[in-house]
Amino acid sequence: AGEAPAAGRAPRSTYDSAFLRACRREPVPHTPVWFMRQAGRSLPEYLKAREGIPMLESCMRPELVAEITLQPVRRHKVDAAIYFSDIVVPLKAIGIDLDIKPGVGPVVERPVRTRADLDRLRALTPEDVSYVTEAIGLLTAELGATPLIGFAGAPFTLASYLVEGGPSRNHEHTKAMMYGDPQLWADLLDRLADITSAFLRVQIEAGASAVQLFDSWVGALSPADYRRSVLPASAKVFAATAGYGVPRIHFGVGTGELLGLLGEAGADVVGVDWRVPLDEAARRVGPGKALQGNLDPAVLFAGPEAVEAKTREILDAAAGLDGHVFNLGHGVLPTTDPDALSRLVEYVHTQTKR
Ligand code: CP3
Repeated sequence: AGEAPAAGRAPRSTYDSAFLRACRREPVPHTPVWFMRQAGRSLPEYLKAREGIPMLESCMRPELVAEITLQPVRRHKVDAAIYFSDIVVPLKAIGIDLDIKPGVGPVVERPVRTRADLDRLRALTPEDVSYVTEAIGLLTAELGATPLIGFAGAPFTLASYLVEGGPSRNHEHTKAMMYGDPQLWADLLDRLADITSAFLRVQIEAGASAVQLFDSWVGALSPADYRRSVLPASAKVFAATAGYGVPRIHFGVGTGELLGLLGEAGADVVGVDWRVPLDEAARRVGPGKALQGNLDPAVLFAGPEAVEAKTREILDAAAGLDGHVFNLGHGVLPTTDPDALSRLVEYVHTQTKR
């Protein structure tokens, strides 16, 4: 397995964790498990901690971030923590006029639509997000041998919020720019790649053991459009975060036709939603990369026997894989019973114990 490279600041004790071993495609004592959106609305202790504090403000309070990040680790015994934040935090940090509206999501007051608008996307410095460095310092001290995953939004998904001005079903303004003014689009994505790269490097240098690049909405594109208009910017982010010895995970929803390209962009681990079985996903991604996934989060509403049966199918499909991190195929749904998540962690651990 070799020595842990020293460039990142992740505590040495996390190096042999099941999660990092699986990301590196090394033998594991059990299949590691964590859940996208494991910290958040499904937990009563989260709702209590957040009471009266707006979402973006809560992301800037290191003690609160650390507490919320630790909650699912304590409760579910997951194999990794994920830093509590949102993909729009670095954009807020460079002064974009955005807010997270309850029940809506991120809303940008003045959408980015013209070349002049690009000037508002200035470079991100570590000082802009000093609360992130501080929170990660608190977290790595508390987490011990449990790895912390940092994350960021990928250029396409961030661009979709900036160009649309908020959440969007069809991404029509985004695609209008992509197809109608390819040079402006390329320049926008390139700027976002630099912001995202800088934000991920802050997290790695503060002690994150792995990072996940969320390109949640990129499944809206065809493979040809992804390759031409998005892959260069995402590849720039992976190039900028190489050399730390920190695994990089790449995830999007509805990306069955893009799985090979998500790997090609430079990820070490490709996240898969529930639409493609993991053995088929492995064929699409090709050798040399671990896979993460892929239980449909809605299955958790079906009762323990059904959850176990669907989980068994996933573990069987993953049996021949070279590196598997168990996860949901997208984030935990807000009304999920937390006990169903705890039982799922226990089930995967006992079923895969070697
Ligand atoms: O648990 C919670 O939902 C409460 C906190 C919260 C987050 N984001 C945490 C978060 C809230 C209210 C938001 C707003 C927001 N931002 C939404 C939700 C709108 C709603 O009310 O349902 C959305 C869709 C965004 C944009 C966003 N944020 C995307 C597309 C992603 C990538 C992950 C995905 O779901 O596809 C995020 C990341 C995000 N937001 C995380 C957390 C804790 C990611 C880290 C993780 O996986 O835990």
